[in-house]
Amino acid sequence: MALVSATEMINKAHAGHYAVGAFNINNMEWTKAILLAAEEAKSPVMLGVSEGAGKYMCGFKNVVAMVREIHDFLGISVPVALHLDHGTYEGAKACIEAGFTSVMFDGSHYPFEENLEKSKEMIALAHAKGCSIECEVGGIGGEEDGVTSMGELADPKECETIANLGVDFLAAGIGNIHGKYPANWAGLNFDRLAEIQSVTNGKPLVLHGGSGIPADQIAKAISLGVSKINVNTELQLEFAAATRTYIEAGKDQEGKGYDPRKLLKPGADAIQAKVVAMIHQFGSAGKA
Ligand code: 13P
Repeated sequence: MALVSATEMINKAHAGHYAVGAFNINNMEWTKAILLAAEEAKSPVMLGVSEGAGKYMCGFKNVVAMVREIHDFLGISVPVALHLDHGTYEGAKACIEAGFTSVMFDGSHYPFEENLEKSKEMIALAHAKGCSIECEVGGIGGEEDGVTSMGELADPKECETIANLGVDFLAAGIGNIHGKYPANWAGLNFDRLAEIQSVTNGKPLVLHGGSGIPADQIAKAISLGVSKINVNTELQLEFAAATRTYIEAGKDQEGKGYDPRKLLKPGADAIQAKVVAMIHQFGSAGKA
């Protein structure tokens, strides 16, 4: 099966009260580990690519080529969508052209009217190419230059307006933030989530900042309409910890333990195991 748009997998998740994981990739190891995990758990999956990671991987065209080839080489049979994460206006256009099967246009930093106009344009461009599209209302906080902001709460009226444009799934702040959650984090705001879902006519909602949210909050968010959960930081932490353990145990100095295929394997295996566990937690195992 070729890479697919995420519309069908997310709509099915919404109807079935589970969520599909959108796991960010950084390189070949990440891509391979996440695809193998999805195949192992028989789950649909989304591979998220930030614009920074796209640059790191030498451009969106290279990302499309790499993901397609790894996907085919491994004989992946579960539905896989290649998704631009937090796309700019230019970035989203470039990814639609380059062969991404899903894009997020994040116009949340524009005044609302401008976000609305640009989202409308991008939805038409994406759909003309059979690409699914996510838009964002309100900002999602996180750590920037050492300053951690608390998560914003999206305005339900704005969510309703963007949902009615025909977006496939909607990212709306409900107190979630990117990166590690601070000790004094207030948790997800379920009243706001329920309100947003009630005015958006059952549009599937996206939970950004999926790393480090307690399991009971994840389960409740899914029950209230979250059908896509983004995870990035958690896999980076898993990779770093497993790699550190390998090096601190001196394994890189035993035989040819410094060979990159050996050196990077514990980290890649750790990513795969974590993704399998999260797929089970989100309820999408066996749904491919
Ligand atoms: P985390 O890094 O907090 O998991 O957030 C990922 C994300 O929301 C990507 O858009």
